[in-house]
Amino acid sequence: MTTPHIQAQAGEIAESCLLPGDPLRAKFIAEHFLAQPRQINATRNMLGYTGTYRGRPVSVMGTGMGMPSCMLYAEELIREYRVKRLIRVGSCGSTDAGITVNDLLIAASASTDSSANRNQFNGYDFAAAADFNLLETAVNAARQQVARFHVGNVFSTDSFYHPDKKLVATLNRMHILAIEMEAAGLYAVAARHRAQALAILTVSDDLVTQQHLSAEQRERSFQQMITLALDTAIAGYPD
Ligand code: HPA
Repeated sequence: MTTPHIQAQAGEIAESCLLPGDPLRAKFIAEHFLAQPRQINATRNMLGYTGTYRGRPVSVMGTGMGMPSCMLYAEELIREYRVKRLIRVGSCGSTDAGITVNDLLIAASASTDSSANRNQFNGYDFAAAADFNLLETAVNAARQQVARFHVGNVFSTDSFYHPDKKLVATLNRMHILAIEMEAAGLYAVAARHRAQALAILTVSDDLVTQQHLSAEQRERSFQQMITLALDTAIAGYPD
């Protein structure tokens, strides 16, 4: 069995899958955090791997950037490969004065400027929300492991280079904590297929103070984020 975008065979992808945007991040996570990682996809260079973490099967696959790309991979992973828990790991730009670079953000919900979810919902506004079990597991683990983390509403944009110069102020007014580009779409696809989804993000850009992390500076918070995501991913397996 293959899909238009995934060449893995049936059974080669675990029930729990981490989803970084960057396929090389997927490779890095597989090689540094999973035992016995095996590459299961390379179509369009969207690298995917399956290995184990603390003895439990876990996959990690890139999604590309933005909702259209993330949503099609999520849909194929759930519908064709029976993935049940999808955890996005990525970066975001904070829009709240109390949140700064290197903080972790767990996206309980995601607003958006995209029409993708509306198009699938007869024009109604869909409230894109994280799966509560994954959210609860991640928050409980974060309380033990993570010095600075926040839980709240993020904004998933279709435009990294946004034309609205007042966007940060508008988001802040509605207590939206950060901007990223995938969570709202991922949550909607998961909801439609009764799968579980969560986005765990590292703040790489402080859009209030205009502080930005270099690639090397992201490393420590990245480690915390991946460990948190993996602990959350395996908590779903029965004992
Ligand atoms: N905007 C959108 N997505 C992002 C940003 C941003 O500033 N930083 C990291 N991901």
